Amino acid sequence: MGYLIPPSFRTSTPLWIAVLIVIKWTGKGLSCPSKCSCEQKAVNCSMKALDKVPGSIPLTTRELILSDNKLVTLPVLEMSYLNELVYLDCSHNLLEMGLDFTFPGIVKLTYLDLSFNKLSFVTPYTFSQLNKLLLLNLSSNPKLVEVKDKAFDSNPLLRFVDMSDCGLTYVGGELFKDLHNLRSLRLKGNPWNCDCSFLEFCNWMKKADVVYPDSEEMTCNKPELLKGLTLNVAETKLHYLCLVHLDFQDFVFLGLMAICIFFGGTLVAWLVGLATVIYYHPVMKVDEELDEEEYRMI
Ligand SMILES: *[C@@H]1O[C@H](CO)[C@@H](O)[C@H](O)[C@H]1NC(C)=O
Ligand SMILES: *[C@@H]1O[C@H](CO)[C@@H](O)[C@H](O)[C@H]1NC(C)=O
Repeated sequence: MGYLIPPSFRTSTPLWIAVLIVIKWTGKGLSCPSKCSCEQKAVNCSMKALDKVPGSIPLTTRELILSDNKLVTLPVLEMSYLNELVYLDCSHNLLEMGLDFTFPGIVKLTYLDLSFNKLSFVTPYTFSQLNKLLLLNLSSNPKLVEVKDKAFDSNPLLRFVDMSDCGLTYVGGELFKDLHNLRSLRLKGNPWNCDCSFLEFCNWMKKADVVYPDSEEMTCNKPELLKGLTLNVAETKLHYLCLVHLDFQDFVFLGLMAICIFFGGTLVAWLVGLATVIYYHPVMKVDEELDEEEYRMI
């Protein structure tokens, strides 16, 4: 074995080790994971009953399909090395993301499909490492009940967002406000609770320059009064119910206010009148006295 190693290498073991590591990494970078099929820079591991992401995905992969498996989590650190990845399909898995889960920081990722999983929350941290994202598909995550207000603050390029068929009852009016590239938003099949706190979001929807491909199916589930109405129609009703509508107590309050203002006004007017009389009366007298003095002097 010693004869095969060039003399210069024999004296510098660290260099030899470095060469071995490079060979190993290059091999790892080129090989296709055993169960998957690879073509160009696309790796397809779909429908292989995987419960773990394969460890030997080539580092130059641009497209990775992991759909229809049994994945529960994604290896955050390992996947962060896939920094050429632009397309990732993780649909039809068992992915759960808790409150503090941060999606692997894949810097060039533009397309992310997480549909048909078991996600429950989206926080400002979840997608904070994906600032090139254009399309995000979160549809058919029936356990997804909360998308926090600043959830997409790190994804300013988002154009297509699909959150249909989830368990959402509410999202805040600020959620999409700063996504100036947003073109298409799908929200059907969620049990929306159209109460006054939802008005701000409905209001944003109406004003935003965004297409809602299934606007007829985006309907309220609660309250009973608005059940089945589209969010667009609900906005008009909520506007009336929450901002214009007055209860009996409001009328009593307004009545009392009017009475107070009326009597307050009268009192002020009376005081002003009184003050004027008190102020001007002596002056007039002084003027008259002056006039008399002037006559006397003439
Ligand atoms: C990926 O592989 C699955 C199953 O082997 C196949 O049905 C599917 O068409 C492939 N997808 C692509 C984009 O090649
Ligand atoms: C998201 O995924 C669902 C299910 O695979 C699909 O029907 C839908 O068209 C996708 N949405 C977008 C915006 O691509």
